Amino acid sequence: MLSAVVLQTHPRFRDVAGNLAAATALLGDRAPALLVAPELFSTGYAFRDRAEALALAEPFPDGPTVRWLCAASARGDGVAVGGFVEREGTRLWNAAAVCVAGRPRLVYRKVHLFGFEREVFDAGPGPFPVVEHRGLRVGVMICYDWRFPEAARTLALAGADVLAHPSNLVMPHGQAAMVTRCLENGVYALTANRVGTEHRPPRAPLRFTGGSVIVTPRGETVARGPEEAEAVLEASLDPALARDKRLASGNDAFADRRPDTYRL
Ligand code: ACM
Repeated sequence: MLSAVVLQTHPRFRDVAGNLAAATALLGDRAPALLVAPELFSTGYAFRDRAEALALAEPFPDGPTVRWLCAASARGDGVAVGGFVEREGTRLWNAAAVCVAGRPRLVYRKVHLFGFEREVFDAGPGPFPVVEHRGLRVGVMICYDWRFPEAARTLALAGADVLAHPSNLVMPHGQAAMVTRCLENGVYALTANRVGTEHRPPRAPLRFTGGSVIVTPRGETVARGPEEAEAVLEASLDPALARDKRLASGNDAFADRRPDTYRL
């Protein structure tokens, strides 16, 4: 069994040092095998335009957010996943960094951009990545990617045991939908959502819905955060449970697939 932690944070817009310090305080002395922090947890979310996001962007891996994630991953010889604004030349991504045992491993650039994000960020080209460490295969998707079952399915077919899902959810149903994603794919989900409200006129206020979840491959929600406060969620993960796609009926969720009949 491997220990997993989800951080549910309350980022203050633009206060990168303060937000990372708050995440450090929340994490305490925990040293999990898998840590997931929210989308854009060091910067806040409601950028007015590209220039504002560019001012807080970090190249991968040389920035404070990725360094924070790498330090967190080093503690438990684990994997840490969390969101940041990534700059690469003139390109700007809503990204999640993955650090493994103290070192930066890769970056995932959000594929499905939500609302105003399309004015600020470039759309990620894929692929949806899977990272293996200590016998656990961690797949990465970000927030609104939940609405597209293809994202979780792609990760599961690529061997992911767990969906690491940094989020800034503002619409209903995302957390609940992860139960279905887990049942469909026989994987764990760690949805790390944030709380608080950002009001950055002329944009309408955005209220983030908290309620982070850890869901098992059997669709059980074993940890859930509150709607309005910071929180730490903890659970033990069993990779073998995620690799066993058999159902009680004698069926097999993967072997029974009929890709010859699907028109995608
Ligand atoms: C979202 O994708 N941050 C709603």
